[in-house]
Amino acid sequence: MPFRLPAQEEKAQYVLSQFDRIARGYDLANDCISMGMHRLWKNKAVKVLLPGDSGNYLDVCCGTGDLAMLIASKLKSGKVTGLDFSGNMLDVARSREARQRSARTSSVELDWVKGDALNLPFENDAFDGAIVSFGLRNVSDYQKGIDEMARVVRPGGKVLNLDLGKPEGLLFPPAFAFYFGYIVPIIGQVLQNDRKAYTYLPESKRNYPDPEGISELFRRAGLADVKHIRLASGSVALTCGTVR
Ligand SMILES: C[S@@+](CC[C@H](N)C(=O)[O-])C[C@H]1O[C@@H](n2cnc3c(N)ncnc32)[C@H](O)[C@@H]1O
Repeated sequence: MPFRLPAQEEKAQYVLSQFDRIARGYDLANDCISMGMHRLWKNKAVKVLLPGDSGNYLDVCCGTGDLAMLIASKLKSGKVTGLDFSGNMLDVARSREARQRSARTSSVELDWVKGDALNLPFENDAFDGAIVSFGLRNVSDYQKGIDEMARVVRPGGKVLNLDLGKPEGLLFPPAFAFYFGYIVPIIGQVLQNDRKAYTYLPESKRNYPDPEGISELFRRAGLADVKHIRLASGSVALTCGTVR
């Protein structure tokens, strides 16, 4: 049977069940699918996010917590909060933190919060910056997701979105579409015996705006100095805006 994207009102429940199911093997699959490149993109994003080595930062849709912990590793003081609605993904994040605790030298606090990206359980202006990586595509209202990040970041702080972009060139777009549409589900089948979850991933891109469209949503959220950086020949984009 061909894959059917969930209707808008069913999306959150559908996405939650997919990520709860694949949480345990997510990191290995992520490394395989991106050929380890997601680590480079996240490093780049953190450089853009952090103006210095202290502060209070939010990682929305934090999944298994690698980005939140990367941010924490770059800070000398402050706090990093990872938020996700999948309890299983957060369990993996907590295990990761426990494993790495002895190696961590900084006094930066890490907090894992179960919550909805579309209704962030934080006060206005609570953070110095917020980021979402490969998460916005999964929420049922992209504008609301960005609005919420803009709301909880103080004026002058940055809001970042790292996600799929628009592959460029003559040969790369069809090669990328083939890889994402056919190879990624096979990787999901082999590594996690879950072809369905990894068929949803490419499908989740279908209604997702290109980087210009995401930049427009950033502007509508009232963010200033909006720009996007193309990564991996445009297949990934880092969009950045500053809270006024
Ligand atoms: C593809 S994973 C990305 C995880 C991580 N940020 C990364 O870069 O590897 C997407 C994550 O978004 C979470 N998510 C999707 N919709 C959400 C929502 N409305 N609220 C909170 N988390 C959500 C999922 O549970 C999942 O952990």
